[in-house]
Amino acid sequence: PNRPILVIGSLNMDLVMRTPRVPQGGETLFGHDFATLPGGKGANQALACARLGGHVAMVGRIGDDNFGQVLKSGLARDGVHVSQITVTGGVTSGVAMILVEDIGQNRILISAGANGQVTAGDIDGVAAQIEQAAMLVVQLEVPLPAVLAAIKHAHAAGVPVLLNPAPAAALPDTLWPMVDLLVPNESEATLLSGVDVKDTASAAEAAAVLRARGVRTVLITLGAQGVLICDAQGVRRLPAQKVKAVDTTAAGDTFVGGLAVGLTEGMSLDDAAALGQAASAICVTRIGAQPSIPWRSELTPTERARS
Ligand code: RIB
Ligand code: NA
Repeated sequence: PNRPILVIGSLNMDLVMRTPRVPQGGETLFGHDFATLPGGKGANQALACARLGGHVAMVGRIGDDNFGQVLKSGLARDGVHVSQITVTGGVTSGVAMILVEDIGQNRILISAGANGQVTAGDIDGVAAQIEQAAMLVVQLEVPLPAVLAAIKHAHAAGVPVLLNPAPAAALPDTLWPMVDLLVPNESEATLLSGVDVKDTASAAEAAAVLRARGVRTVLITLGAQGVLICDAQGVRRLPAQKVKAVDTTAAGDTFVGGLAVGLTEGMSLDDAAALGQAASAICVTRIGAQPSIPWRSELTPTERARS
């Protein structure tokens, strides 16, 4: 059978509430439309791979609570291989409290819970899976030693590494030459490169800084401005589709999933990125993280099958 994409990362239950504005210190407000929705960057990316037609397995930890069971079974229902998602006793599953302003940005507060217990030792336990993967996909919602161990292992085995450096964190210099695809958003690219990313020109500058450190390909997601791609061929920007965004949660995760699926199907980098963008454009028109991630069949025939 074809080699699976391997996602190592977080699973969170997202506790989402919408509000006209966020409360100040000492203030109590009424929000509205509370929902408990599955999320977590690792799980979202694995689910995006599966819904977009990829063969995908996930490695991670959940707590011994109901949230964990719901998160794991939801992934399994959509075809993610979940046998390496293990229950950790005595901790809660990851939780993200998400405040969505009626007009404005999301604010997210994460309790890592079981995600915080993923260790470099866990990675040794899945070494064989990493070596057999079509691609390793990682983010920064599990501890850095585990992420680094996974990247080292994949790189040594010649497995392409896709790092979505989210949420933003400083990373060691030894990491960069092992990263084939780096997919930050504007603020992550700013933190990592030291260049204030605010438009296409500054994004290109940041991408060049990151490539000079040894990253093969940099894709900076720019929201409504599209995606800036920088590789050995040069720099270009793929514009975004114009859509009415209601909730951008998991937009980046959906892009990453589409990119990984396209590349492992043998698409060119730009076509794989366009697949990710098409899926992400649907994701932002729907509420929540995992409920908003589209299936491949929802894309137009051209978007579905580039090559
Ligand atoms: O990228 C979106 C995700 O970030 C949400 O699902 C939430 O869990 C946070 O981790
Ligand atoms: Na969404």
